[in-house]
Amino acid sequence: MKPLKADELRKKFIDFFVSKGHTQISGASVIPENDPTVLFTTAGMHPLVPYLLGQPHPAGTRLTDYQKCIRTGDIDSVGDPHHLTCFEMLGNWSLGDYFKKEMIPWSYEFLTKELGIDPEKLSVTVFEGEEGIPRDTESAEIWHSLGIPYERIYFMPREDNWWGPAGETGPCGPDTEMFIDTGRPACGPDCKPGCGCGKYFEIWNDVLMGYNKNKEGQFVEMERKCIDTGMGIERTIAILQGKKSVYETEVMQPILKRIGELAGVEYGKDDKTDISMRIIADHIRTSTFILGDQRGCTPSNVGQGYILRRLIRRAVRNGRHLGIQGTFLAKVAEIVIDLYGAPYPELLQNKDKVFDELTKEEIKFSETLEKGEKQFEKMTFFMEKQGIKEIAGGSAFKLYDTFGFPIELTQELAAEKGFTVDVKGFNEAFAKHQELSRTAEAGQFKSGLGDHSEETTALHTATHLLHAALRKVPLRP
Ligand code: ALA
Repeated sequence: MKPLKADELRKKFIDFFVSKGHTQISGASVIPENDPTVLFTTAGMHPLVPYLLGQPHPAGTRLTDYQKCIRTGDIDSVGDPHHLTCFEMLGNWSLGDYFKKEMIPWSYEFLTKELGIDPEKLSVTVFEGEEGIPRDTESAEIWHSLGIPYERIYFMPREDNWWGPAGETGPCGPDTEMFIDTGRPACGPDCKPGCGCGKYFEIWNDVLMGYNKNKEGQFVEMERKCIDTGMGIERTIAILQGKKSVYETEVMQPILKRIGELAGVEYGKDDKTDISMRIIADHIRTSTFILGDQRGCTPSNVGQGYILRRLIRRAVRNGRHLGIQGTFLAKVAEIVIDLYGAPYPELLQNKDKVFDELTKEEIKFSETLEKGEKQFEKMTFFMEKQGIKEIAGGSAFKLYDTFGFPIELTQELAAEKGFTVDVKGFNEAFAKHQELSRTAEAGQFKSGLGDHSEETTALHTATHLLHAALRKVPLRP
């Protein structure tokens, strides 16, 4: 395998598809313009939804690009060596132009010739079919004709081999996924692509878009079939470079190094330290992409701003775990911008905004973090004495309202100490507060924190609904 760097892989992919008659288009904002059902652009196809559904694209019917994507459904898993909330996706599209017969041989060619992957190490999956949607023997035969033996072609059900829609509605369809055998031993007789044991590594997904999910939840066959593919850059370079984790690659190492310098620690020496370092690296990388975006937002208590606030606050807290004093987030963001300024020039244009907003939010939260943590300790100390294991909704609301602790932060702190949180009670306390705010004279019920007074009465509940919608998005990589 050729140990390509991210910049080389990006270029190779685009050049390959340009050589196959595609036009390179610019990636879009991380905040979707066409889909109010999700907060962030979660896949390369997201900005192309209207065109996949039939609207003519000005650049033609064969497109390729690289797209910054954000998937925060797995945010709680960030800290382990694999999860990221922001990644780059390489993609190519056929808007009613070519279909399986072209796409599958191109995938094989790109993987084996351009990336130098040994064909013996490749396995693929195809859709096994279900009532009304045929078994995809055609894709299986194409793979076989290219040299993949039947024993490495797996027919899988919808939960494994169906992609989309990205939001609640839109284009979707069966897919065919490509996996590399990492050489690790099988975890058991049923081990196969898609198994989470680490033997098989998914490298690329070709979605054979033939359906449109409507508001009623029906899958309506599209007259004009499309192709949508997605390859995650960070994961792919990690496997090509023989690294165990995306955090060991050149796109994360300089960020971790800067965090290490600021904290006086070194990555790779202590598990607990590494977790905090990875959380900061991931969260500040994602925050930089959101703040530096062409349609970027700022921290707030609603929608995308709420996720951004949560990422920043989590990073601050982990910085304190590492013993970092004073503001440091902008110093980490500098490295992110150095790394990504060339492929994403908007980061350079919005550099000052990124630094200012990070620092403003950091100062705001740092002022109350210590007091909030003390309050939390006091609270749980007394609860422990009384054998109470659940933090009441009202107490969680107080941490939110007075100390700016997003409910998820309280849940995290609670989980660390073996407590749970009454989230329903929290939502009730929140709704009651909203009601009071609504009926009060303007300004009378401003929050103690002062950091969210402008939005205290805003759509927190809607944010939770949106989180739920986000979680439904298939998580890859
Ligand atoms: N849209 C497909 C994915 O995200 C390619 O995997």
